[in-house]
Amino acid sequence: MQNYFMVIPIKKEKILVLGASGEIGNFLLKKFKSLGYFCEGTSRSHKKFSEFIIYDLKDDIDKKIKLSNFSYCIFCAAETSIERCENNEVNSRFINVDRTIDAINKCSNSGLRIIFLSSSAVFSGQNPYYTINQKPEPKTKYGVYKLLVENYIMQNYKTSSTILRLTKVLTSSTKIIQEWKEKAKSKRTIFAFNDKYVSPIDLDSIFNVIEKIIKNKSNGLYHLGGEESLTYYELCKKLFNSDVSILKLIKPEISNSLSPNGSLKTYLPK
Ligand SMILES: NC(=O)c1ccc[n+]([C@@H]2O[C@H](COP(=O)([O-])OP(=O)(O)OC[C@H]3O[C@@H](n4cnc5c(N)ncnc54)[C@H](OP(=O)(O)O)[C@@H]3O)[C@@H](O)[C@H]2O)c1
Repeated sequence: MQNYFMVIPIKKEKILVLGASGEIGNFLLKKFKSLGYFCEGTSRSHKKFSEFIIYDLKDDIDKKIKLSNFSYCIFCAAETSIERCENNEVNSRFINVDRTIDAINKCSNSGLRIIFLSSSAVFSGQNPYYTINQKPEPKTKYGVYKLLVENYIMQNYKTSSTILRLTKVLTSSTKIIQEWKEKAKSKRTIFAFNDKYVSPIDLDSIFNVIEKIIKNKSNGLYHLGGEESLTYYELCKKLFNSDVSILKLIKPEISNSLSPNGSLKTYLPK
């Protein structure tokens, strides 16, 4: 009997995922590898996965990573906690702006194209579904830092970089979903904001957009947002709608957020 081997073709582009231990970076790393791309990822420690390149944004990237091995850098590494950015302005700005720009410069000078993951937080969040042409007006330090890097990229590497603004990623392992599930399991009250909106996207959609950006060598500024925008309270009810006993545990809570909306009007490369 003849043996058949499934041959996964080796793809031309070689991808470096900075921040590959995180929610988005880890998904991208695994998916690109599974499709035959040469893809490596970084973390500050080996704690999570042994195969990571150890890299902290505080380090000079060209001293830690052989950049000539790669043609693309997907920038997922950042201080992503809005609270930590507010409470530790000096450190978070150093990482999310100064050291991020330094790494972008070094990658670009080595000929890598950059895909920078930005956020709906660059907008004020006063309105839903911001379009690509609306003026950013961040209300948080996290949003200010994202915008500073976006502006730097647009001024310096417009033709070799892509900025992809995202709305909130929600998966079964996202922190808030985990917290809700734990409370539901132990029959505790679940408080969820009914004046703050979320517009969830999934990891596959992000991968599909990024793969397309890479295949088409697209550059410029894009938005990927969820189709619906619902309050955390509505989302929570939707998540547990098959179990009446859990629905009874869900109570609305007021956030008084300065930026209640987190949605974007999707705008992607053709
Ligand atoms: N998830 C979302 O809903 C969402 C929405 C909009 C935009 N974004 C943006 O998308 C990107 C990825 O988000 P994510 O949710 O995957 O983030 P995440 O789960 O918080 O992961 C952050 C990653 O950054 C790395 N990192 C943190 N500090 C670092 C430092 N000083 N030097 C080097 N690496 C560092 C972490 O690695 P170690 O801790 O292992 O070192 C981790 O791999 C971020 O830029 C985020 O702002 C995310």
